Amino acid sequence: MFSDTLQIINYAPKHQADIRRILEHVGWAEQYITAAVRNADVFSKEPAVFGTYLAMAGREVAGFIYVQFHVWNRLAQIQGLAVDPHYQRRGIARALVDRAEVFALGKQARGIYVDTPTDNKRGRLFYEAAGYTFGYLMPRYYEDRLDGVTYQKFFDR
Ligand SMILES: CC(C)(COP(=O)(O)OP(=O)(O)OC[C@H]1O[C@@H](n2cnc3c(N)ncnc32)[C@H](O)[C@@H]1OP(=O)(O)O)[C@@H](O)C(=O)NCCC(=O)NCCS
Repeated sequence: MFSDTLQIINYAPKHQADIRRILEHVGWAEQYITAAVRNADVFSKEPAVFGTYLAMAGREVAGFIYVQFHVWNRLAQIQGLAVDPHYQRRGIARALVDRAEVFALGKQARGIYVDTPTDNKRGRLFYEAAGYTFGYLMPRYYEDRLDGVTYQKFFDR
């Protein structure tokens, strides 16, 4: 677990460059980084629908999460999650997912789900450790040769 200097705060546009820096360090392709940076600004303007949170390690942004509430099926969806490699394996993603789940529960969501590439071993192990279970496979979801996998957590379990 991280020390007591970890804080989860709401995203603000002044932190746009931090999202980019984290994803560059993680090694994501540019099209995903561009989308994630833009999404932070778009999502944070609609707090009734989206939670956009940053993990602050002292004064540095160590990670972020976006979560969306879908009214039509009362499920929340994690739309983005990353922790700077420098800060990984200290419980920061877990703290961010806990915050996203609080957001979802506050909307009376039935549960929460997340998509990730099938080859994202670290991400899949993380979600499994956080109590998410395999939901379904989405052939060719990310690229023609890269499938997606959905993990789910229902709150009545
Ligand atoms: C996946 C990711 C968000 C995890 O962040 P993190 O802050 O390191 O995760 P935590 O420290 O909260 O991990 C909690 C638990 O998840 C599991 N876990 C996390 N990373 C793991 C890894 N690389 N290998 C195996 N298990 C892992 C462990 O059980 C861990 O507990 P432990 O450290 O006590 O063993 C981070 O690796 C990351 O940013 N990856 C790139 C982006 C990404 O894949 N995002 C998620 C999918 S879209």
